[in-house]
Amino acid sequence: MLDKPLVRPQCVLDDDISTILVDEATIQQRVSEIGAAISQAYAGKDLVLVSVLKGSIIFMADLVRSITVPHEIDFMATSSYGAATSSSGVVRILKDLNVSIQGRNVLVVEDIIDSGHTLTYLLRLLSERQPASLRIVTLLDKPERRAVHIDVDWVGFSIPNEFVVGYGLDYNELYRNLPYIGVLKPSVYGE
Ligand code: IMP
Ligand code: MG
Repeated sequence: MLDKPLVRPQCVLDDDISTILVDEATIQQRVSEIGAAISQAYAGKDLVLVSVLKGSIIFMADLVRSITVPHEIDFMATSSYGAATSSSGVVRILKDLNVSIQGRNVLVVEDIIDSGHTLTYLLRLLSERQPASLRIVTLLDKPERRAVHIDVDWVGFSIPNEFVVGYGLDYNELYRNLPYIGVLKPSVYGE
């Protein structure tokens, strides 16, 4: 047992956050609930979790530890052309899967669904490989921003239309290490 509580050291990145939307304890609680639901849904079935890099790595790492059924993990990396804070809908595959998913139950693990363009493209690509099933879990959802309909199986938190960082999500590749989901101060964008 630890004789001292774990205290997170002060981080300079905290100064750039205006509001904490979801705190660390709330995230951990919700991830456990989703892990339990996924474990129930895939009991006795073959399962591959596909994490979409890089934003979903923290969620993925916590999620797999609350999933109690055997499963493999693999990674894909995509990049959308265009503006830094909004998706253009044009997607490039930077890294493909290492495993074949034909005839397997695939669960895509996303950090956030915004317009839905990135995921729509990815789902089309993966379904062409004829998985036995293809489902989606996302930590965050911005329903107001959705441009294309997607059936999402598990959602951690629905959030308002604000640009968020932390728990894997970045702005210019930073802030991924914050243990909470926070809204960036407008001054950070240079406004
Ligand atoms: P979509 O194609 O518009 O659904 O965009 C999804 C991708 O955009 C996510 O996987 C993130 O990489 C990025 N993204 C969208 N909203 C945010 C945000 O609020 N913070 C950080 N990244 C975001
Ligand atoms: Mg993503």
